[in-house]
Order: sequence, then C-alpha cells, then structure tokens
Amino acid sequence: MAKVKTKIGNDFCPQALFLYGTKQEDGQPHFGLFCWFGYYHSSEGLGVMACIGEEKQTKDLIRKNGIFSANLVSEQLLPLADYYGCTYGKTAPDKMKRLPTVEWGEVLDVPVVAESPVSFELEVKQTLPMGDGSDIFLCLIRNTTVSEELLNKAVPFPQRLRQAAPVLAPGEDTYASIDGRYLGKWGEPMKNLPGISPTP
Ligand SMILES: Cc1cc2nc3c(=O)[nH]c(=O)nc-3n(C[C@H](O)[C@H](O)[C@H](O)COP(=O)(O)O)c2cc1C
Repeated sequence: MAKVKTKIGNDFCPQALFLYGTKQEDGQPHFGLFCWFGYYHSSEGLGVMACIGEEKQTKDLIRKNGIFSANLVSEQLLPLADYYGCTYGKTAPDKMKRLPTVEWGEVLDVPVVAESPVSFELEVKQTLPMGDGSDIFLCLIRNTTVSEELLNKAVPFPQRLRQAAPVLAPGEDTYASIDGRYLGKWGEPMKNLPGISPTP
C-alpha cells in the first residue's frame, strides 16, 4: 500500500494524557488536561517537555509558581479529565467545584491526583516562548509516585500496564485505551459526570 501525502499532524501517533496540577493564589488546587508532553534526559536526570498553547489559567500558574504536577490520566479519571480539558479556567471561575482526591507533593508544593496511577512533581528549568502565544516548558522531574500495586514485579509488565489503564489521544480528537478500545470523542466522557446533562 502506498503512503499518501496528507495534512501535517500526528494522528496514529498516540500520546498519553496528563492532568497538570497547580496551586492557586488562595492555596486551592487547579487542574487542566494536556497531551503535548514528552521526555528528555540531561545530566540532572529525566526531564519533561510540556507545550502549552494560548493563554490559560494553568499556564499563568506554572509561570508564577515555576512548579506543577503531571498526573497520568487513567480510564477511571477520564470523565473528570475530559471536563478539565473542555472547561477554560479563565472564564469558568467555578471549574474546580469538581475535584479528584487531592494530595500534596512529597518534594514540591504541588497538588497531586491520588487516583492517578503515575504522578510527576515538576520544576521548570527553562521556558521557551515560541513567539505566537505557545510556550514550551522544560522541567526536571523532582519526584515520581506510582500506585503501589503497579510495582509488583511478580506480575508481568504488560498486565500491570493494562491495570494502570492510561488513556491515549491517538488522533482525530478521540480517546483510546492502551489496548485500543475507543473511549469517545473529546467532550463526550465528561457527560457521564453528575450534573452535566448529555446533549440530545
Ligand atoms: C484531550 C485534550 C488534550 C489537550 N492537550 C493540550 C495541550 O497539550 N496543550 C494545551 O495548551 N492545551 C491542551 N488542551 C486544552 C486545555 O486542556 C484547555 O485549554 C483547558 O482549558 C486548560 O485548563 P485551564 O484553562 O483551566 O488552564 C487539551 C484539551 C483536550 C481535551
């Protein structure tokens, strides 16, 4: 089968989804959903590259605090994560009326999602402004926490990976499970949250 030139994009290149957790000025946690996320390695250790587009509350708080958490989104967390991704914090002051179980970082003063299977506590080392409103944050991972049961090496890794149940963004504005199940379009899973009525 020939390869065909198409529009520039990354469909079929699945990205894991993360909830970025930041501390607001009043001490309350704030969360947003993000997928433009990758890793780098430096002499200081493993780092994370996080790209945030136009202005948003998460970006203001990352710039102000210089630290945030990244919490892997599991299938269980997807309705809430989808809500955080489809609700713009700057114009929805009550966005955080829905919260996961929040814990605070072991190393950094950042909110961490207890239900998430993997959480990183991140310290921004460099900010690369792209000049068009997009910014890339290069961050050192200062701490990683993982659900205890995922560390049981007696269980084969593929089984523990399915147990972690990370949600992927594989393209065409959809969500998928790690074993390829379709989990809905962006904006759909949040309709399962109490108080949000499904569109007819
Ligand atoms: C599946 C999904 C992935 C997203 N990934 C990103 C991303 O990587 N970078 C970004 O700037 N916005 C991304 N967004 C949009 C933000 O989640 C959205 O702007 C949200 O309002 C951020 O929260 P805040 O406004 O409270 O800061 C994504 C949204 C969805 C639904």
